[in-house]
Amino acid sequence: MQGNRTGTSFADPTYEGTCPSGPFLGHLPMTSPKRACVITYGCQMNEYESAVIERMLVERGFSLDANPEEADLILLNTCTVRARPEHKVFSQLGAFRRLKQRRPEVRLIVCGCVAQQWGAGLLSRAPHVDAVIGSRDLRALQRFLDGELGDTQVVAGCLESDPFVDTPPLVRQSQVTAFVTIVEGCSYFCRYCIVPYVRGKATSRPLGGVLREVQFLAEQGVREVTLLGQSVNSYGRDLRGGPRFLDVLQAVHQVPGIERIRFTSAHPRDFTEQLLEALPRLPKVCEHFHLPLQSGDDAVLKAMGRGYTADQYLDLVGRLRRAAPEVAITTDVMVGFPGESEQAYGNTLSLMAQVRFDQAFMFKYSDRPGTRAATMESKVPAPEKQRRLEQLVAQQNRIAAEINAALVGREMEVLVEGRDRTGNLLSGRTRTNKIFHLEGQATPGDLVQARAERTYLWGFRGPIAARP
Ligand code: 5AD
Ligand code: SF4
Repeated sequence: MQGNRTGTSFADPTYEGTCPSGPFLGHLPMTSPKRACVITYGCQMNEYESAVIERMLVERGFSLDANPEEADLILLNTCTVRARPEHKVFSQLGAFRRLKQRRPEVRLIVCGCVAQQWGAGLLSRAPHVDAVIGSRDLRALQRFLDGELGDTQVVAGCLESDPFVDTPPLVRQSQVTAFVTIVEGCSYFCRYCIVPYVRGKATSRPLGGVLREVQFLAEQGVREVTLLGQSVNSYGRDLRGGPRFLDVLQAVHQVPGIERIRFTSAHPRDFTEQLLEALPRLPKVCEHFHLPLQSGDDAVLKAMGRGYTADQYLDLVGRLRRAAPEVAITTDVMVGFPGESEQAYGNTLSLMAQVRFDQAFMFKYSDRPGTRAATMESKVPAPEKQRRLEQLVAQQNRIAAEINAALVGREMEVLVEGRDRTGNLLSGRTRTNKIFHLEGQATPGDLVQARAERTYLWGFRGPIAARP
């Protein structure tokens, strides 16, 4: 789920002007014109945060530039969930060292999970970085941009602070889908995962703020919102007597203009019967659920601290499919957790064959500093992890292709989002979250019926059969 999202156009003209007093970056006044480039690594929560940061920048008179070479300010929003995204951040920083030699006036800020994990250590490793702002510190970033933090170079520490700012994400021209984070951090402490250490314990966003943002997004033309959290359906656990996840779904459901609601990631443990029973009353909630499995082996699941068995997971899938037969189920799985035997891995392979996921994000286990798993013995050798991953991916690709092929000839509702990569066709998503390349004319935001004529691993292509 690596992403890299930058951009230049936005739909909200009130934020296009320049800041009359001229924004400051730390103690360094920036002169006009000011261009900022936000580069995003990692999950959808980071994408959401980057869109919030982009609005903060635009409100302060910056224009956005997708090209870091042209920018006066570069902001890296980083990910450390596995070693690979962390390495990518450091190699990108290496490239920016050369950029700063050529253009020393460029300001470079690192924020997000790597910033939180490394803190001041990041400045020793990359001294050309101007500021390090931790993952719960968007307020500090705001103050930094406003010059209130003076020479402070590192703000990365307090994981107790309120992570939610009132700034909504930037909405681009014709943008019809948007993310809205409703839970920040995670309290599960699965033994492989660094997230609770770099994002803190689960903190639910007050419902009023969630609703204001969804209403604002709807007014900007957004038709589909995805509610985000590392364990999104644990919403409200930390709010004594306050709203729970179902209350959020019901409230968002009432926002005029919002046609579709998604949420991710749902921890299987928190997918309650009450939530399942409520789904028929919430027709805007799409028939797609992302339920991270991680392993299909009970002993590995136990060692991971996941809190469910393979059978319990299967039972949940069965109940979901009985409630909504057309449902698409996607997952995250990893191979090579410490102590994972060939047989345990085989259990993952066969559970995935049994469930038949529509899509899966598959990873090799990666040691993360500070986690319990990093200190465990019986590490699986790298070539073996690679072999297991390749076999799992091959099986999953076969299953996904079969699932999609069985849907040829069917009509599906597609929310038109824009053009496909070639620019030749319109593109959108089905309620089951599959990409659909459309033949015919429509406008972003339209809900059309389309007939699947060709299928791919990623989705479908076919003509628009009817428009609303
Ligand atoms: N190694 C490999 N994969 C991991 N994930 C989280 N931590 C690790 C790790 N240490 C995967 C999980 C999670 C997804 C976002 O990343 O599958 O659901
Ligand atoms: Fe990466 Fe996880 Fe942080 Fe998202 S929460 S940015 S996936 S480490």
